[in-house]
Amino acid sequence: MLGETTQLNRLWRLNPANNGVGAALLAPPKTANDYQQKTKVSVQVSDKVRYGVIGTGMMGIEHICNIAAIDDTAVVAISDPWEGSRNWALDTIEQQGGDRSSVEVYEDHRQLLSAGACDAVVVASPNMTHIDVALDVVEAGVPMLLEKPMCTTVEDSQRLVDAVSGSEAMVWVGLEYRYMPPISRLIDEVKSGTVGQVHMVAIREHRFPFLRKVGDWNRFNRNTGGTLVEKCCHFFDLMYLLAGAEPTRVMASGGQSVNHLDEAYDGEVPDIADNAFVIVDFANGVRGMLDLCMFAEGSKNEQEIAVTGDIAKVEAFVPEAVMRIADREAGQGPDIDIADPSITYEGFHHGSSLIEHRAFLEAVRNGGDPEVTVRDGLRSVQMGAAAHESINTGTIITL
Ligand SMILES: NC(=O)c1ccc[n+]([C@@H]2O[C@H](COP(=O)([O-])OP(=O)(O)OC[C@H]3O[C@@H](n4cnc5c(N)ncnc54)[C@H](O)[C@@H]3O)[C@@H](O)[C@H]2O)c1
Repeated sequence: MLGETTQLNRLWRLNPANNGVGAALLAPPKTANDYQQKTKVSVQVSDKVRYGVIGTGMMGIEHICNIAAIDDTAVVAISDPWEGSRNWALDTIEQQGGDRSSVEVYEDHRQLLSAGACDAVVVASPNMTHIDVALDVVEAGVPMLLEKPMCTTVEDSQRLVDAVSGSEAMVWVGLEYRYMPPISRLIDEVKSGTVGQVHMVAIREHRFPFLRKVGDWNRFNRNTGGTLVEKCCHFFDLMYLLAGAEPTRVMASGGQSVNHLDEAYDGEVPDIADNAFVIVDFANGVRGMLDLCMFAEGSKNEQEIAVTGDIAKVEAFVPEAVMRIADREAGQGPDIDIADPSITYEGFHHGSSLIEHRAFLEAVRNGGDPEVTVRDGLRSVQMGAAAHESINTGTIITL
């Protein structure tokens, strides 16, 4: 199997958008108040569930491939302001056995929503566009899988929580690390009491730098929410799940030490952090720690998670796909290989996006609740934003 970095680099080179695109193409959509055609989309789910994909860059393409890997589904509409990404999506749909000529193609997500052709939408546009796009989707009443981070700020995340709670909309936030086979097995072990009373959750991510994106939106905190929001919302979501209580205090040290310092966009050097230590206290006394380094390409694993309780410690390693249990009395157990044979498309997230999609589809078909809610999305953004605030102010942030 190709290494993750190699796969991502290949995918990057394949993306026609990377021949260069102006930031002007990424102009944020108008607000929900500007949305003139407030037609309620009917959510009559036919046998074949019809998807719209909003934003068809790298992650949108992964979603299209996931949808193609599930029976009785089809991508029937896409929207993206960049022609290169729209063509990439159509080529991918065709490669996956779909009919490109029947796909409705839009530059603006509001046109896609007004057309009313979709039973569900996936939003994979850049982080800073999520709030406006998501509010429009909620207003249209279409079930939505919204990519992480839910929004770039706590304020926008709260606005979305408020909008969702005042509607019947089903909004599922794309925090799919929960579904990575070794991580979901670790969560199961912790929840079933293997480690006893949980006291410490340690998460290490040592990986490659941020990839290039369409219009280079991910080079600036104002677009991403900051690295600890953009990237690490996944890990704060896991910490919360594993701690089993609300976060109360966050303290962090971090910065931009190595990456992107030799780049400039219209004369502006990127300002995104590439390393940090973050400590989180939870209401039940559990302590969480994140160790992030984004100039550690040579690492055997990208993510290493250890949860320690009064009885034992359980660890998960990705992409090694291994779990280990060390009991305080019995000692270190063997490496347990965790494979999920039901994964027919691995994508770039070890099959976790496919598992997420299957569960999302089930909720769409049955009118079920999301497993990853907007409250989860808000909490993960809050923790990341608090970590940035702690770095910027040199203080402990109380949530
Ligand atoms: N869950 C994960 O693990 C994961 C991994 C990668 C990216 N993501 C998220 O997916 C989203 C997209 O990231 P990406 O890596 O695909 O970026 P990308 O730059 O490759 O693609 C983004 C696409 O959105 C388009 N776009 C810009 N404004 C838009 C708008 N208003 N409406 C619709 N489309 C618009 C761009 O033209 C581009 O084609 C981001 O929110 C990112 O954080 C999540």
